[in-house]
Amino acid sequence: MSEQVETLDHEQFGVSPERGFLPDIDPLASLETAGHPRLRRLETAGDDLSNLLERDRLGPTVRNLEAPPPGAFDDLSRRELHRVYTVAGLLANAYVHRNDAPTVDAIPAGVAVPLYEATDRLGRTPVLSYDAYVLHNWTREDTNGGTSPPNVAPLARFFDVQDERWFVAVHVAIESAAGPAVGAIGDAQQGVRDDDEERVREALGTIADALDDVTRILDRMPERNDPEAYGQGVRPYLGSISGVRYDGVDALDGSQSFRGASGAQSSIFPALDAALGVDHGDNPLVDHLLELRRDMPPGHRAFVEAADRGPDVRDFAATAGDDLREAYDDCIDRMVTFREHHVDVVETYLVGQVDEQEGTGGTPFGRYLTSFIDDTREAGLSGFAG
Ligand code: HEM
Repeated sequence: MSEQVETLDHEQFGVSPERGFLPDIDPLASLETAGHPRLRRLETAGDDLSNLLERDRLGPTVRNLEAPPPGAFDDLSRRELHRVYTVAGLLANAYVHRNDAPTVDAIPAGVAVPLYEATDRLGRTPVLSYDAYVLHNWTREDTNGGTSPPNVAPLARFFDVQDERWFVAVHVAIESAAGPAVGAIGDAQQGVRDDDEERVREALGTIADALDDVTRILDRMPERNDPEAYGQGVRPYLGSISGVRYDGVDALDGSQSFRGASGAQSSIFPALDAALGVDHGDNPLVDHLLELRRDMPPGHRAFVEAADRGPDVRDFAATAGDDLREAYDDCIDRMVTFREHHVDVVETYLVGQVDEQEGTGGTPFGRYLTSFIDDTREAGLSGFAG
């Protein structure tokens, strides 16, 4: 029996076939009595965010919050730290990007300190990223129900509108639907290591089916998320933070700049690209993706790296029989389809809705996204993928 491939050790990376990159236990909805009173006041401000933005009251409210002492974070569980991260991250972005504040050069200590302390303990960048806005920020209305919208909804959000709820819910549902594909990466690589064609073929079938589900969910984005409401309302709040001090945080000296939250920080496609050997070559825009990768949870980043190091599924399929070559090409075909539908979504939601041609992650997305489709198609073995 050959050695186990790294990507089968799901626990080590915090991934699972049931939930993919979502946490095993549903995220914490409230700190309740846990935590320092100043953290609970932060949470109250977070719960009231939409109202504060609407009444132009966010500025004074955030400036009045007092920074909790560093010891206030020592006894918090990881779920509690994630809750603090999400709430402080949303408040920080809202404070910086709000309409009634043309120039903001500092995030007040009442938000900057909890944002820094929570992210430092979680090994994250001190800014709202996909991880805080999507992966650890959802609840299920019926706890016996699944993770499809409308049963799934975000816990914290900028606005109390269905468009933003739907936007986050669709992302959460996609992460959940990708679970079987994430789980099958290890099976495919183990099959290659053991020279077990049947195991590789089955794993590729699982990946293809999951990708079909993922694309079907992506297609539901317009059902309840109006492009104008997203483009003019939610999107500006997800933008990068640039040239801003973190008051009260000695470890962050001077002005800081961080990228905004983006679906490009989801680990699903980087992991599948790595496992299936989709090569984005020396395309200069790949650097941007690697930069965004720094804002992924460390365990998920490690999973992508392990998939990259693991046995080469593409090479194995290329020299195998027709069945396996077709199963591999089916996966590539589904990846191309997702990326094509995603470009359509970007056209609908950004082009014509917003002026600048940059994603919230701060990349020139047009060239970036279409070249990624071409790279994916080129991985196909039989020249019929896509
Ligand atoms: C309204 C919905 C969406 C918009 C407007 C949008 C926009 C964008 C933009 C502008 C980029 C370029 C990178 C950046 O600078 O951020 C991007 C990349 C990306 N997005 Fe989205 N996106 C949306 C939904 C989604 C969803 C639901 C997913 C699923 C996880 C997703 C996954 C990705 C991935 C994986 C990339 C990296 C490029 C690739 O691997 O093909 N996006 N998106």
